[in-house]
Amino acid sequence: MAAQRILSGMRPTGQLHLGHYTGALESWVQQQNLLDEKGAHVYETCFLIADYHNLTTSLETGEIYANTLDMLIDWLAAGVDPEKSPVFRQSQIKEHAELFLLFSMLITSSRLERNPTLKEQVRDLNMESMVYGHLGYPVLQAADILLYKGNVVPVGEDQIPHVEITREIARKFNNHYPHPVIGEVFPEPEPKITKFSRLLGLDGKAKMSKSLGNTILLADGPEDVFKKMRTAVTDTAKIRKNDPGHPEVCTVFSYHARFSSPEQLAGIDADCRSGSLGCVDCKKLCAANISLELAPLIEKRHYYQSQMDLVKNILLEGEAKANVIARHTMQEVRTAMKLGETN
Ligand code: TRP
Repeated sequence: MAAQRILSGMRPTGQLHLGHYTGALESWVQQQNLLDEKGAHVYETCFLIADYHNLTTSLETGEIYANTLDMLIDWLAAGVDPEKSPVFRQSQIKEHAELFLLFSMLITSSRLERNPTLKEQVRDLNMESMVYGHLGYPVLQAADILLYKGNVVPVGEDQIPHVEITREIARKFNNHYPHPVIGEVFPEPEPKITKFSRLLGLDGKAKMSKSLGNTILLADGPEDVFKKMRTAVTDTAKIRKNDPGHPEVCTVFSYHARFSSPEQLAGIDADCRSGSLGCVDCKKLCAANISLELAPLIEKRHYYQSQMDLVKNILLEGEAKANVIARHTMQEVRTAMKLGETN
């Protein structure tokens, strides 16, 4: 059995974009498939669909299932393998709600009010007021992670504060409620950040995000990728084709850094600076390289879209597996807390 477990998740917001891919999904698949020198898996991986978390910013639930399936198809297309990694909805495992309630006693509201990710959300979404559950967002996330005793949490940079809160809650629980047999019930999980966890949006102003409409979707075919790429903001000092450019301030160059080969990258850098490479050709090359990487995902996406029963079953099977782990952890929690003692 693998010594380390990875737990990560995403809110079901529908089709995923390149930022989800470089920020998390790609790393999930790498860790899922990582073998040690003896050929054994380094990690056990579990991936969660955070449908309760969606409710913190929107009460609309009509689209949740369709968005869940769309997102799951993107996960599968990107290489999440349900044989290795159970995939499941938070709302289908009652223990998430139960552990969330207990954890909410282990952290102060002032600690949660200081959460920088929350402050960012309030600013970005122009929120005038916040529901009580939104303040508890990281507490629910702590329950997600610790219910499965996740040791490693691959996430984008904005989620680091949430993993830190998870560590604090785990520490507090372990100190306060030692288990009579196993001692500490929870590990203190570590975040794992990818190099491209903050992929810029096409507008070059903020990271790629659905609400800002600055994304390239994983499902976008070559024509759509190029069409969107044409709108990408480049170095504003490079106006005419032969003006010398500054790759370090160019959004498209930041995409090349991830999607083009190191040799190509060096050439693009030199030719942009000298003025021999114009932005349109540069964007063409960038779009082509992105599409090259997306091609196998698009093919797999088509396959899963034609097999919706299979996709739905993958979810149900993942939920059955997750349930077993969650129930076991909750029993340990109840024992440690002496809840439900009868003598
Ligand atoms: N908050 C995460 C996000 O918005 C999603 C999430 C919910 C999550 N539960 C989690 C991520 C547990 C990692 C682990 O991206």
